[in-house]
Amino acid sequence: MQAWEGSSESAEATRRIGEALGRLARGGDVVALSGPLGAGKTTLVQGVARGLGLGAAAVVSPTFLYVREVKGGRLALYHVDAYRLVGRAGPGEAAGFLEELGLSHYLRSGGLTVIEWPEPILDALPADHLRISLDWVEDDPSGERRQVRVEAWGERHEALAARLAAELGWRPARAGAGGGQAGGRGDQAGERDGL
Ligand SMILES: Nc1ncnc2c1ncn2[C@@H]1O[C@H](COP(=O)(O)OP(=O)(O)OP(=O)(O)O)[C@@H](O)[C@H]1O
Ligand SMILES: [Mg+2]
Repeated sequence: MQAWEGSSESAEATRRIGEALGRLARGGDVVALSGPLGAGKTTLVQGVARGLGLGAAAVVSPTFLYVREVKGGRLALYHVDAYRLVGRAGPGEAAGFLEELGLSHYLRSGGLTVIEWPEPILDALPADHLRISLDWVEDDPSGERRQVRVEAWGERHEALAARLAAELGWRPARAGAGGGQAGGRGDQAGERDGL
């Protein structure tokens, strides 16, 4: 595993991170996108759509669906939101949830899969994948700054993350910093609008 850290100063800056990812992605790539409610996960996916040659408007929060398939870009984009599974996952249940979402089909389809609230299914994802965590920054009067941490697991996604980090000027993560995932807080389940 290799890790990098960066930051975003605005929603548009987060979209640009996603856009670079969309441009660099290859079919079969898998991105787990963590972070608390409202951190900017869907905003980043809008940038991914842009990087794939789709309009950012093609991406909306898939609150009432688990998977939205966005076609018409360089690669099909499978936008997954596993929020409603958060807090339901017990040990060893990830593979079952993956099936429940029909996700194994999408993971084999040669598109780009981006998963918001991936924690319930993280253990069942392909070993080679990228994890991006967005989180708030303390003492930020603007409310628009986010810290971004990227962890790349496996050869393919380490190569992808290295290119992304070079393009965005990210620094390698300090050893032990970040502590893995932001978000994935089961106690937030049910707070989101419309659920
Ligand atoms: N630096 C930033 N990056 C991303 N979004 C930002 C930033 N600063 C402000 N915002 C705003 O924060 C909001 C993020 O909403 P978004 O739906 O992307 O969050 P989310 O993480 O997907 O939330 P949810 O957990 O409900 O899915 C948007 O209104 C966006 O404009
Ligand atoms: Mg979202």
